[in-house]
Amino acid sequence: MRARLVDDGDLVDVHVEGGKVSAIERSSTDAPDRVADTEIDAAGGLVRPPFVEPHIHLDSTLTAGEPRWNTSGTLWEGIAVWSERKASVSREDVITRAEQVLRWQAAQGVLFVRSHCDVTDPDLTALDALLELRERVRDVLVLQVVAFPQEGIVSFPRGAELLEEAVRRGADVVGAIPHFEDTREDGVRSLEIAVDIATRYDRGVDAHCDEIDDEQSRFVEVLATLALRSRLGDRVTASHTTAMGSYNAAYAFKLERLLVRSGINLVSNPLVNLALQGRFDDYPKRRGLTRVKEMLAAGVNVAFGSDDVMDPWFPLGTASPMLLAHTGVVAAQMTGQDEIAETLEMVSTRAARVLGLGDGYGLERGRPASLVVLPASSRMDAVRRQVAPRWVVSRGEVVAERQPSPVRLRWLGDEHDVDFVRDADAASATWRDASLAQLTHVAGATSP
Ligand code: FE2
Repeated sequence: MRARLVDDGDLVDVHVEGGKVSAIERSSTDAPDRVADTEIDAAGGLVRPPFVEPHIHLDSTLTAGEPRWNTSGTLWEGIAVWSERKASVSREDVITRAEQVLRWQAAQGVLFVRSHCDVTDPDLTALDALLELRERVRDVLVLQVVAFPQEGIVSFPRGAELLEEAVRRGADVVGAIPHFEDTREDGVRSLEIAVDIATRYDRGVDAHCDEIDDEQSRFVEVLATLALRSRLGDRVTASHTTAMGSYNAAYAFKLERLLVRSGINLVSNPLVNLALQGRFDDYPKRRGLTRVKEMLAAGVNVAFGSDDVMDPWFPLGTASPMLLAHTGVVAAQMTGQDEIAETLEMVSTRAARVLGLGDGYGLERGRPASLVVLPASSRMDAVRRQVAPRWVVSRGEVVAERQPSPVRLRWLGDEHDVDFVRDADAASATWRDASLAQLTHVAGATSP
């Protein structure tokens, strides 16, 4: 294996038997006691648990431009366009599009996915399709389905009834969208309904919460209080919470304390939040993100999600976790060395906490042998170059393998492959040598 579990760690071998991690030990050059059926040479790269997608909409994915494009680019026109497209949703339509994106995700090392699914549909067609797909793909990846009332619980006809029926049919998590409800009171009531259903059916809650540039949108305090009082705690997630980026400092301070006490998770979707929010602002324009750094520093679990891939809300996207981490560095201004490394955790281990994966996740003896091998020297290096996994392993089986594809560069009469790791290492070694030489020179000049 010859892989590193952590930045600058010792080389280790991960042994797998019966789909589980049987041992993790220091890499040795001695002849092994017995030869494995399959061997992966990580060549000193990182071995990590798989990436985790905490927030995507697989029911609407790959529908961008159908039946029309979202020309204003707002969340609100996106909801209106989706409402029109929803009329032609069928089982085959949903399964085909959703499975395509799941294939992209598996190829990029994402083996745990939480997808929201619109249940403001009297027939629950998309929900049934995603539940069917969840069972079909379960040997490769874990798919969680959130019953998501896109057009409201209280403000949509039979909204609460449809939400409960979706959970009865097998949805894993209960959703909500309080800022979209007609009134503040309806929004509060919608969260009470969602938490009540979750409590009665033993489910978690993942609410789209305060996804608006309105400093008066304050539903996350309601959700956190309900999480605290119902004792659902960390089984509750507030997604988006972009209004938090507009709250005044005094209110944010009060809220931070409540969020920590409640134990709820936050999911920020940096790529899509940056694109959708700030649309009603003149300049200066808001960034449209929740308080990512501040909440992490306070001890709140925050993860990054894709949200939309080629749909009425976002016309681009490949569901790449590395693009998310990279965008998160820029959008949340997490440019410190440790902060950059942390963004990789936000699309893997922190996102795993959102999904409540517990012992079903993580590179430890006895746990499922699901992992990715990244051809990177550190987490920061992986984020900088947005490296894709060289191998993706799900429960002991290789599900994706990527061949390195160097670029042949003809440069000033020379010709060579461009290798961003080697080139960066060589450049920093040159810099280090030059700096040391300079330091020695200075020290020599000033010493008596
Ligand atoms: Fe969303």
